[in-house]
Amino acid sequence: MTTRSITLSRRALLQMGGASLGLLAIGATVGKAGPGSLPRFPLRIPAQDRGEMTGGQRRFDLTVGHGETEFFTDVSTKTSGINGDYLGPVLRFRAGEKVQINVTNNLQEATTLHWHGFNLPAKADGGPHQVIPVGDTWVSEFEIREKASTMWYHSHLMGKTADQVWAGVAGMIIVDDEEADGLDLPNNYGVDDIPVALQDRRFNSYGQMPYKLNMHSRNMGMSGDTALVNGTVMAFHDVSTDLVRLRLLNASNSSIYSIGFADGRSFSQIASDGGLLAAPVQVSRVALAPGERAEIVVDMSDGTPAMLSNIPQSGGMGGMMGGNMMGGGGGQELSFLELRPTAALTTSPALPASLADLPAPVATEATNTRKFELQMRGMMMMNSVLGGGFTINGEEMDMKVINEVVKLGETEIWELTNASTMAHPLHIHNTQFRILSRNGTPPHAAEAGRKDVVLVHPGENVRILIRFDHYTDAETPYMYHCHILEHEDAGMMGQFTVV
Ligand code: C2O
Ligand code: CU
Ligand code: CU
Repeated sequence: MTTRSITLSRRALLQMGGASLGLLAIGATVGKAGPGSLPRFPLRIPAQDRGEMTGGQRRFDLTVGHGETEFFTDVSTKTSGINGDYLGPVLRFRAGEKVQINVTNNLQEATTLHWHGFNLPAKADGGPHQVIPVGDTWVSEFEIREKASTMWYHSHLMGKTADQVWAGVAGMIIVDDEEADGLDLPNNYGVDDIPVALQDRRFNSYGQMPYKLNMHSRNMGMSGDTALVNGTVMAFHDVSTDLVRLRLLNASNSSIYSIGFADGRSFSQIASDGGLLAAPVQVSRVALAPGERAEIVVDMSDGTPAMLSNIPQSGGMGGMMGGNMMGGGGGQELSFLELRPTAALTTSPALPASLADLPAPVATEATNTRKFELQMRGMMMMNSVLGGGFTINGEEMDMKVINEVVKLGETEIWELTNASTMAHPLHIHNTQFRILSRNGTPPHAAEAGRKDVVLVHPGENVRILIRFDHYTDAETPYMYHCHILEHEDAGMMGQFTVV
């Protein structure tokens, strides 16, 4: 690694500088490379893994291991990945099918793999209790009960999730179903239906991205100034159709993104975390906290390149909240992906006017209300490096404590309040819930669909309608936690069982 430091080419250093300063964005949005700018890299499209049908189950074999990745020309960066060097294949599940996933751990430390967004038996969840020791294989079996959607999978090892995800132990999952098959949506993988896993990383002058917390990142979460899409820095993708569907996943550790296009063009959001919205929603920004997904369809028929970027809201409260106080890299502009239209674009069918049957949540069905208060005790004193203090209802995560017991099939309201000065994206395992209100106001249409992560701003009160329909296990808990991975690792997580 020391030799690397002296052999880093001028080109690589320029790329690293260019990536972090977003220099490329400027020349590239006008369709040509500006003076002194560097070529962008073609977007990596992860291989799809559809498993293999055996005995009525779709069987997947995954191996988590260490790797080396060339993010920059001739620079080898130490990473981790699944069936590869960084991140993993896109797993393709089908609603109604049963899957068997065999996960082998080739890392030099224990790990887990969690299937984020799925309703499944607690033992199959891949959370902190399903540890895979070094060299072992863990078998997870469950039925796909979800709708067509974009989900993901990632390490969930107690106290080490942030570190392992930072290194690359994560991947996307696409769920298909008949309802979505029947719709005229762009669905040609890698052509007009593109996986877009958004991350930011910080590289040192050796081209490495070590996971190291300081007092700032301990509070705010780890982030960096280099934008990655599917592990590609300075990514571009040639598009050949009028309409392009992007499956956005915020796979960063801590950054709350505000995703849009540098030229301000609007687009249609068609899906939230758990699947299609009732109808496309026209927006020019998507707020995407760690763990959240959004599928968008962008119109490229004007033939002009478009730069998918994190564009922090500026001015007033928004600027402050979108900046440092939001945590991570959410506060800085990041140029993620340039879409470059080819000369002749194929005409796409118009987006359907309605997408999914999504009945409005009925709050009066709830028979119980639970309250969850998110707190950061040490924060105000800037001493949380000593005392921790990331809690839910005043308690830090304890593997031996079941915080909540929920009855199967019972509809509940969970009331989430944020008593801290940072926004926290709360994620709940084993369910897709619906947002009832934010501070008493019904959610925006883009947030009115199925969700498994909800961002709770400082001082906010968010009510959600939630139910667990299928599996009971009095011994094995599921998790709810802040999806800022450093907060999760520091204790902002709790456990519940369904009985
Ligand atoms: Cu995406 Cu408990 O995790
Ligand atoms: Cu999850
Ligand atoms: Cu948090």
